[in-house]
Amino acid sequence: MEVTDDVEYVSTLATLSEGSVRRNFNPYTDIDWDAPEFAVVENDERWILPATDPLGRHPWYQAQPKEKQIAIGMWRQANVAKVGLQFELILIRGLTNYAFWVPNGSPEYRYCLHESVEECNHTLMFQEMVNRVGADVPGMPRLLRWLSPFVPLLAGPLPIPFFFGVLAGEEPIDHTQKMVLREGKALHPIMERVMAIHVAEEARHISFAHEYLRKRVPRLSRWQRFWLSVNVPIVMRVLCQAIVVPPKAFWREFDIPRSVRKELFFRSPESRKFLRDMFGDVRMLCYDTGLMNPVARLIWKLCKIDGPPSRYRSEPVRRHVVAAA
Ligand SMILES: [Fe+2]
Ligand SMILES: [Fe+2]
Repeated sequence: MEVTDDVEYVSTLATLSEGSVRRNFNPYTDIDWDAPEFAVVENDERWILPATDPLGRHPWYQAQPKEKQIAIGMWRQANVAKVGLQFELILIRGLTNYAFWVPNGSPEYRYCLHESVEECNHTLMFQEMVNRVGADVPGMPRLLRWLSPFVPLLAGPLPIPFFFGVLAGEEPIDHTQKMVLREGKALHPIMERVMAIHVAEEARHISFAHEYLRKRVPRLSRWQRFWLSVNVPIVMRVLCQAIVVPPKAFWREFDIPRSVRKELFFRSPESRKFLRDMFGDVRMLCYDTGLMNPVARLIWKLCKIDGPPSRYRSEPVRRHVVAAA
């Protein structure tokens, strides 16, 4: 766990930590929740789902009456926020668990704690949003909620798989939020502000997970790397599914036909592309750290998240589905 001899890694972590000090947000001073334009009012069309959302661009959704589109949009966006905050609560527990064992003087201690502080603020911001939207959403699927207390325990003895799990949660949320912001549809100001703050801070968190893994993975033994290489795509797919696909309660509440659900997640070509595009950066990381071999590539394909690696981190999707349409 001693990293102080790696000058480059130490300096990257120092830059990230200084970034956290220089540029950070507070959910109650940087968002004016009580401003009139932040009020959640009935029949506000800005809650209609953007076309970046697989459901938002589906003909079934677009054929629904406006009030139903709004109600679905509010529920869906609140639930994504809820999943996000549940995921962050797991992450905070894992980060502090990891930091507990880090030796004195390690720059990882400082960065992990900066990140935990930021995630605490994100959970406050997301929960405030859920409360204001007023939809009583469950967040993650039930099984994952039950498993959630055990995941952070991994961070101590098995930090490498844990940090891959972190990326499996952070990459899809970040990718989707950036696509929604780039699409430029009029969003409710709460959504817009919360997403902008989140994207700004998330860049550092994702950088840290990448740096951490780039440092550690190449030092694993061949067998450990092989084992990891076949499990990474499975973790990506399972966690992404939990984040992106709404839970059972959603389909029941709005009486959404089974066929629509199947098509959305993930049978139609657009939704397949949406799924693949979320993991370009993780594929790049896997190529660069020796986690792509013929068996791993097959698993990536079976999980339907195979594709070319990004050329650099956060590379915009080359052919944006919405723009192309
Ligand atoms: Fe976050
Ligand atoms: Fe984060």
